[in-house]
Amino acid sequence: MRISYVNGSFIPHEQATIHIDDRGTDFADGVYEVIAYKNRKLIDLEPHFARLKNSLAFLHLAEPMNSNTLRTTINTLIGKNKIDDGLLYLRITRGVAERAHPFPSDTKTSLVMTVKEWKKPSDAEYTNGVKVITHPEIRWAWRHIKSICLLPNIMAKQKAADLNAKEAWFVEKDGTITEGSSSNVYIVKNGIVITQPESNDILGGITRKTILNLAQENNIKIDERKFTLTEAISADEAFMTSTSMGIIAVNEIDGKKIPLGTTARRLQGLYESYVNAIGELPQIN
Ligand code: PDD
Repeated sequence: MRISYVNGSFIPHEQATIHIDDRGTDFADGVYEVIAYKNRKLIDLEPHFARLKNSLAFLHLAEPMNSNTLRTTINTLIGKNKIDDGLLYLRITRGVAERAHPFPSDTKTSLVMTVKEWKKPSDAEYTNGVKVITHPEIRWAWRHIKSICLLPNIMAKQKAADLNAKEAWFVEKDGTITEGSSSNVYIVKNGIVITQPESNDILGGITRKTILNLAQENNIKIDERKFTLTEAISADEAFMTSTSMGIIAVNEIDGKKIPLGTTARRLQGLYESYVNAIGELPQIN
């Protein structure tokens, strides 16, 4: 049976509900994380926790529990579900209060968590790359916060789905590509990986951080700078990263073909080894 977590209780998923006055539903007043686990071992937990702490602090949201207790609670939830390779979803909102815009003074933050099967892109998608489209950048100015306010992201992703594409890349008025609706994006030119630097303009992806570390360790050159749609369309390669997709090559942007190359392929292999090493079960002698 699928078990979820709601404010201190582990309960069957079908019964896992929140209050009608939760500020998450009224105002999207909350933050979230998606953390992958393989063989029941969480991948990059510490950086996910660091980003979560940052998101909470920025929005003046109280931590519902300390990191050690949270780690134990997450592991208990994973233990209660029969999923070896999964995605943990964690959401913290400002809690339940009569609807009014200012922060309530005496409300406890709410924490809910679910796990589900980690459905990765298909082997064919990993091998052949995927199609992306673009969407005007219509989001707010604090995109480094992993806020549950995702209306622009879902509108963009739906446009992608309608056009049979895997992802939508946000493009600013000046032509700069920021990131995907749920991924970070990269192009490769003359062997150099180019990606937006971390700032308020993008979500600092945890997969992004790991991929850039792996690139550095393996002498793949990185240039953290803005790039435009025009540059992307004439790039040697393009790819994107996220917790659920890992790293995947892009073979088409807005109908224009992008070549597949060795850089994304190499990083794919490096990332797979990295994840497998974390997810290895302990050796029993
Ligand atoms: N999305 N940018 C945006 C806007 C995202 O929503 C995500 C992740 C990323 C990549 O971050 P990370 O590597 O830490 O997953 C970048 C998650 C997976 C989601 O919303 O489901």
